[in-house]
Amino acid sequence: MIMKIDDINSCSSSFLNYAVLYKEEVDSTNLWAKQLAKEGAPEGTVTIADAQTAGRGRLGRVWASEGGHSVYMSLVLRPQIAPEQASMLTLAAGLAAAKACNDIYRKHTVQNTPEVAAQIKWPNDVVLSGKKVCGILTEMGMDGGEIAYVVVGIGINVNAKAFPKELCHTATSLALETGSQISREEVIRTVLEEFDRCYRQFLETGNLANLLLEYNEMLVNRNREIRVLDPKGEYGGVAVGINEKGELIVNKKDGTCVEVYAGEVSVRGIYGYV
Ligand code: BTN
Repeated sequence: MIMKIDDINSCSSSFLNYAVLYKEEVDSTNLWAKQLAKEGAPEGTVTIADAQTAGRGRLGRVWASEGGHSVYMSLVLRPQIAPEQASMLTLAAGLAAAKACNDIYRKHTVQNTPEVAAQIKWPNDVVLSGKKVCGILTEMGMDGGEIAYVVVGIGINVNAKAFPKELCHTATSLALETGSQISREEVIRTVLEEFDRCYRQFLETGNLANLLLEYNEMLVNRNREIRVLDPKGEYGGVAVGINEKGELIVNKKDGTCVEVYAGEVSVRGIYGYV
């Protein structure tokens, strides 16, 4: 199913100069974007595919990517930041995606829609009704000790009507949640517009100071009991929010407070996915 690239290019961004590229099928839009970045593609290059044959998720997982109903997109960035700041960018992207899903959700539901319907499961999954609707994979290319490029890959379940048995309790789509068929071009345009703003605000300070309030307001883990799945040892606590570095502040049962760095760690709610 071909997407209407003109509809996507009509997005109103003031900071990034987007150049959108589309293929019906690709191994992974992240791999494609990384290849283009290595060949010199400028910041703002966006790769989009209808289907991916080797979609990749966080922590080495597979991202199921059949064609016809979802969004698979990757952005090439060239931020002048230190490598250790790049993990914050992934949270800024999560916020942008969550804002976009929230906008779309609110537009397509009629009454009594809460202001914050889409939420963020730290660090950057977007959830609706407690189920995942969007995931983000950020990858970085280095040149000497410096960042040559960052690729932010975003996968959004837009019009999927059903999920395999192993995912149906944890995954959802915008269409399932709103009861409406959603234009993928509109989703992509909204993500690009929100990302333009969040990226600019992130670069202003080089951390999440400008985005902290918005992020914490959307954080589904906030004030909830969670398990921190740290490869060095799992533990529990109550998440209070993120700090300016994007670390999750967790009050442990023993009275200590830890700041969890995203890297190899993920969290889950004690009663299920969130
Ligand atoms: C996650 O595990 O939650 C991250 C999923 C990221 C999937 C997107 S789809 C577009 C881009 N291309 C990929 O191969 N992965 C990302």
